[in-house]
Amino acid sequence: MAGKRRKPPPREPAERPFGSGSAGRVARAAAWRQRPTAAFVGARRGACIRTREPPMSPTRAARPPPPCPSRPEHLGRHAVLGRIAGGGLSTIYLGRRHADGVLVALKVVRHDLRDDDEVLAMFFDEARLLERLVHPNIVRTLEHGADPGRAFIAMELLLGTSLADVQRACAARGMGLHPEAVAWIGARVADALEHAHERTDDGGRPLGIIHRDVNPSNVFLGFDGEVKLIDFGLAKCHGRAITTRRGVIKGKLPYLSPEQIMQLSLDRRSDVFGLGTMLWELCTMRRLFGRSTDIATVRAVHCGPIPDPRALAPDVPRELAAIVLHALERNRERRYESAGKIARHLDALLGEAGRAVAASRLADMQRMLFPAELERQRRWKKPALARVV
Ligand SMILES: Nc1ncnc2c1ncn2[C@@H]1O[C@H](COP(=O)(O)OP(=O)(O)O)[C@@H](O)[C@H]1O
Ligand SMILES: [Mg+2]
Repeated sequence: MAGKRRKPPPREPAERPFGSGSAGRVARAAAWRQRPTAAFVGARRGACIRTREPPMSPTRAARPPPPCPSRPEHLGRHAVLGRIAGGGLSTIYLGRRHADGVLVALKVVRHDLRDDDEVLAMFFDEARLLERLVHPNIVRTLEHGADPGRAFIAMELLLGTSLADVQRACAARGMGLHPEAVAWIGARVADALEHAHERTDDGGRPLGIIHRDVNPSNVFLGFDGEVKLIDFGLAKCHGRAITTRRGVIKGKLPYLSPEQIMQLSLDRRSDVFGLGTMLWELCTMRRLFGRSTDIATVRAVHCGPIPDPRALAPDVPRELAAIVLHALERNRERRYESAGKIARHLDALLGEAGRAVAASRLADMQRMLFPAELERQRRWKKPALARVV
């Protein structure tokens, strides 16, 4: 990917912010440090949000959906009701189980990739892996199957939006996430990663699972405040049948670890770095490594500056900034050795009171940011309207 460079690289923009920061958040930050939940008290709607001046402008337009082939009528023992989202390699449909009417999410390999053996092998690896992962912060996989020409995974249906959607919505409104929300999201994703990293096979041998694609589009925030890690499509474990084609780096470039960029062998600390990048961006509402070209992004991951988040967002508590920067150590020997340790540190920072209210604060924020989406998804539950998606 990062082939030999013949001419000087294009000049990188100094930063690609979601928008500009503000000095007007310091007082709220002080309150947050003294009383972990104080900044939330009295704020009913959007309590996890801090307002920024001047307003930020979104830098990333929503991606156009991939080409949408005709929707299947049925997948295994499910009726297909409509399309939820189109991802990189797959399309997510709303489905209903014939037997009991339970609504599910059906992930289907994208039409134009359905004959790609590598993609299919990855897809079924994801399914088998996910079926082993049972954790409150990981999307629950129910079953997988292959109708003629259609490989699918049935999952619990999540109601909400991806964290990437939240970032975009905040950017469009000139808002940032409150540090307490950042800590809560980070702790729950870290819990999910720790669970995956610690999985063993039936004989008790470590599976060595690594997610490899920890980024905001693979974190789901429910309308009820739940945080779920999704999309283990690139996850890797010992003994996995599939090998990545030589020279192909997989995953979202701005969230890869330096060792992924260098194509070294990976361990769980690679996911820790991805989580660190995500948390840095949630703290500052700016891009850390994303640049206008892939080569510039790769270089930024490899050796670009990693400023203290507090230099850009002064209301980020010192302790939170220290956790984020520790996760972002390029030398993995100096990085957090496990996601579990990050979860413990973030939970300690939140305190018992902060943890107790965090989910309901996030739920408030989600409903405030996405009223139309909430309404649309509520209609899924009404049988008569379930086709209107
Ligand atoms: N179980 C689910 N319930 C509801 N929506 C989901 C579910 N899984 C995924 N999605 C939606 O589909 C999008 C793409 O899913 P993902 O698994 O990341 O696919 P891809 O591998 O194509 O990136 C997610 O960002 C999310 O918005
Ligand atoms: Mg994804």
